[in-house]
Amino acid sequence: MTDPGVPSADLHLAHLRIEAEVRAGFDRVLADSSFILGPEVETFERAFARYCEVDHVIGVANGTDAIELALRSAGIGKGDEVIVPANTFVATAEAVVRSGASVVFADCDDHFLLDVDDLPRVLSERTAAVIGVHLYGQCAPMEEIRRIVGPEVLLLEDAAQAQGARRFGARAGSLGDIAATSFYPGKNLGAYGDAGAVMTPRADLAKNTRDLRNHGGTARYEHRMLGLNSRLDGLQAVVLNAKLAVLDDWNEERRVAAALYDALLTDVADVTTPLTLPGNEHVYHLYVVRVPNRDEVHEQLTANGIATAIHYPRPVHLLEPFLPEQGMPRVLPRSEQQSAEILSLPIFPGITPQQQTRVVDGLSEALSSTTTMKKEALR
Ligand SMILES: Cc1ncc(COP(=O)(O)O)c(C=O)c1O
Repeated sequence: MTDPGVPSADLHLAHLRIEAEVRAGFDRVLADSSFILGPEVETFERAFARYCEVDHVIGVANGTDAIELALRSAGIGKGDEVIVPANTFVATAEAVVRSGASVVFADCDDHFLLDVDDLPRVLSERTAAVIGVHLYGQCAPMEEIRRIVGPEVLLLEDAAQAQGARRFGARAGSLGDIAATSFYPGKNLGAYGDAGAVMTPRADLAKNTRDLRNHGGTARYEHRMLGLNSRLDGLQAVVLNAKLAVLDDWNEERRVAAALYDALLTDVADVTTPLTLPGNEHVYHLYVVRVPNRDEVHEQLTANGIATAIHYPRPVHLLEPFLPEQGMPRVLPRSEQQSAEILSLPIFPGITPQQQTRVVDGLSEALSSTTTMKKEALR
């Protein structure tokens, strides 16, 4: 029998757990042809609002649109600056550019989150918003960001990687003025295609987002502004409703798996395990360690059938579209160092202790052989 290895995630396993609900829901959508928006989407928007403890949820086409729509709902655009941490998926910064505003990058802290100590350096009179990215499954310290930037600046949460996470007991999505999330299939709450949502406690921002997601329309063929075509569809809402019902259980499975990695890795030299910021309940969208010789370790694990990944190999301020046209990009030392050391180990609901042991054994082996290789090369 061929060795199946260890996958980085197992979407098929997740599907098998909710298959009956999904098939029944798809039948309902097919029966009444409610393909775009419709009753399944409305049910999901209400359920996810209750779950996130916010008054308004607006289902949209993907997480990138959700960020753009959230900014535009607050009137942010040309002439404004938006602060974004440098270690995030490119979409966070891309959405800012699409809104018409300029991106200003801040460095990250040891939790891989926006470094609040770097905020005073990047704040300016033009700062209109700060995006706290809840990277890898734990919340950015939104209350500290608020304390530093004051009440006038819009606080936007990028909660794409943190569905269900809590900060001092409050859910991700309820910690700022407005939040955006992605239901990309691999997320903790993932659809079977692209999908996303905007969450907000503010009725004014909710109304604007609702209109902007549908070509700026207030009613059919009545458009008060130009928006996007960014509507959640009925089939995706079926999947999201089915998965929302089990999300807390699946997040708990992720926490148990993370605790096992923490224990198994205590005695493995050279591995730094992820830190949880005090006040956070982590949902471990990713379990990210820091290791020396990361690229070689990653290659060896891949060759041994263990699927690790790098989120992200280059901080966003060093990606081509964000390089200044003249001169050098600003040095953001911690984000740059982290991007050379980080490695995401397999984690998903249903991962077994045997799979995790295999990952840790493979990692120890790769670390000792790459360290020996480096030492020999230096001789
Ligand atoms: C932190 C973060 N922000 C934004 C996005 C963009 O979401 P989407 O791929 O649904 O557009 C993602 C997901 O891929 C993400 O991980």
